[in-house]
Amino acid sequence: MELFLDTANLDEIREALSLGVISGVTTNPTLIAKERVDYKERILKICELVSPGPVSVEVLSQDAEGMYKEAMEYASWAPNVVIKVPVVKEGLKALKLMHAAKIKTNVTLVFSLNQALLAAISGATYASPFVGRLDDVGHDGMELISQIVAVYGLHDFPTKVIAASIRHPLHVVQAASVGAHIATIPFSVLEGMLKHPLTDIGVKRFLDDWQKVKELLEKK
Ligand code: E4P
Repeated sequence: MELFLDTANLDEIREALSLGVISGVTTNPTLIAKERVDYKERILKICELVSPGPVSVEVLSQDAEGMYKEAMEYASWAPNVVIKVPVVKEGLKALKLMHAAKIKTNVTLVFSLNQALLAAISGATYASPFVGRLDDVGHDGMELISQIVAVYGLHDFPTKVIAASIRHPLHVVQAASVGAHIATIPFSVLEGMLKHPLTDIGVKRFLDDWQKVKELLEKK
């Protein structure tokens, strides 16, 4: 299983990369808007930092022709760009063109097994079911991840499942347990995964114990 970071914030990306556990980044228009920077400028910088790891960049057009044009442009920005396409009718049409042009794709806003099937049949590199947003409306987001992983496996689809819209560390554990290939997580969730009070207490006790003996030895 791999972890991607779900952000457009450069400090978070640098910090997460320095930990050595993040192998890609996913962005979306909301995340880039939060940064109040130019779309292209920010994507170029993220691609440079994450290279050779994949960076998902979402199309903004509503029609297939526009989406495909954007995809061609974004793909020319950096070799690790992956085009994020919403699973709608125009998106499927655009995916067909992107697949033929051998452009890597991440089908986003997946909320059902049918949508995930369409993504895989379209030759998507990745499909991103949104766990948290399903949970928000009273559905079991993780159950959908589990179903998609099973069906993709049953039919040997090479499309990788990215558990997206991850809200807390338990989601990561659950995504790993049901076989998601990747979880894309906010920086706060990455920090949450690492945190355990017993680890902090343990580190402090080891250091204190050694310090006491060190002082005794120095007095001798
Ligand atoms: C996935 O690629 C999306 O960027 C993201 O996970 C959406 O998460 P949200 O529901 O927290 O906005």
